[in-house]
Amino acid sequence: MKNVHLIQHPIAQARLATLRDKTTPHPEFRRALGQLGLHLLHEATADLAVKQKRVRTPLGPAPATVPAREILLVPILRAGQGLITLADQILPEARIGYLGIARNETTLQPEGYLEKLPARLGRFDVFVVDPMLATAGSAIAAGQLLQKRGAKHLRFIHALAAPEGLRALRRAFPKNQIFTAALDSHLNENGYIIPGLGDAGDRCFGC
Ligand code: PRP
Ligand code: URA
Repeated sequence: MKNVHLIQHPIAQARLATLRDKTTPHPEFRRALGQLGLHLLHEATADLAVKQKRVRTPLGPAPATVPAREILLVPILRAGQGLITLADQILPEARIGYLGIARNETTLQPEGYLEKLPARLGRFDVFVVDPMLATAGSAIAAGQLLQKRGAKHLRFIHALAAPEGLRALRRAFPKNQIFTAALDSHLNENGYIIPGLGDAGDRCFGC
């Protein structure tokens, strides 16, 4: 599927196995989610626009390549935070903006409750981060809000996706890249991904 990247690295898949396992306790779940986040971030930044510059080594000038734009990670609270707990290890330069969006459990509609973003979003490569792409209501709401605030270079990072959510996100953002470690079977009548991993936020934070 165009612009959809399924991350099948064996170690990423091993972390996903830990996340799916219902006997995984929350400290281990949280660690595995952070580690999977590293794989996804690594893949999602692989073809970032770059610029050339020169640096001085102790022995003389050398050409160097660095990202052309600043990097902004935008985890959707709560569970998105779990996917970026280790991001510092590969993206120490990233800024982190927060969107609080809770899915109404009856209507399945996203309800925003927090927005903390830097100004002038057009200067960033922006990554919307949320482990679960279920109906995609939350990711679409986040993407639309970020575009309204000026974001131009937007990518989506998920641990796993339902086909219904992936289709909806692609319809809303046909030109933006989407990264996920799994494409699952379907959504159940409560909007949960099957087989999925359960409630990502509750499993990650233990409540
Ligand atoms: C979960 C998940 C996503 C959303 C996905 O969040 O972390 O944000 O549901 O569902 P959607 O694709 O149908 O919108 P939830 O609302 O349970 O909040 P939480 O992370 O605070 O637990
Ligand atoms: N949110 C979750 O945490 N899990 C799902 O399966 C769907 C939405």
